[in-house]
Amino acid sequence: MRRPLIAGNWKMNLNRSESMGLAQGIVQGNCPGGVEVVLCPTFVYLDAVSGVLDGTSVKLGGQDAYHESNGAFTGAISMVMLADLGCDYVILGHSERRHKMNETNAMINAKLKVALATGITPILCIGELLEEREAGQTQAVVESQIDGSLASLNAEHVAQIVIAYEPVWAIGTGKTATPEQAQDVHDDLRKLLASRYNATSAAAVRILYGGSVKPSNAAELLSQPDIDGALVGGASLQTDSFLEIIAASTAEAAS
Ligand code: PGA
Repeated sequence: MRRPLIAGNWKMNLNRSESMGLAQGIVQGNCPGGVEVVLCPTFVYLDAVSGVLDGTSVKLGGQDAYHESNGAFTGAISMVMLADLGCDYVILGHSERRHKMNETNAMINAKLKVALATGITPILCIGELLEEREAGQTQAVVESQIDGSLASLNAEHVAQIVIAYEPVWAIGTGKTATPEQAQDVHDDLRKLLASRYNATSAAAVRILYGGSVKPSNAAELLSQPDIDGALVGGASLQTDSFLEIIAASTAEAAS
């Protein structure tokens, strides 16, 4: 049984006190035990948010990290540093990093291996552009992102990661994939993992949906059999809307 996971990607938003206040609100919302909740603030406020989450069940994640552990890499943050601040998760390969910062599958693969070696669970993001969907290339695009990002990992490693399917055209646009469109891709992804690795790992991997998830569409998306949670951007910046999404996933877990 895959435990639902709801992760909030705060991106480059909120100041220090707003970040701590939002984390406090989520903690006080008494997130139910059946769902795993992860908050991903910007790097510079990880420590402050970590202090708020300390001793609670809400987990901390980084939004990215570099593949080297230390050294002369000006401006970079390592997985070891994230672990030191209490991060259990790291988002890797987000479409904003792939498309705005030119990250390649090879770079994401290097980061993913270091995350696993450091004991941080990667949330690997994949997803197609609008023109790729319209050209009928969705499956081919996500397949090549999976193959490139997971290169040389084995079935045991793959069982430990989380995948987030985020169609790029749905991120921050208010357009969401329909539950059927998302379920189709998630189902294809699980079949792909079974064929590349094995059925046990494929069944264990949690596949989140991301892209304009909000309280009004969360329950329907999360009720799909292969959607195991959500990676939430905009709607994770408000305590009430994020708590409502968490509640929608728990209702699904209980049903
Ligand atoms: P959104 O972002 O919920 O604002 O569309 C999702 C994401 O980028 O992870």
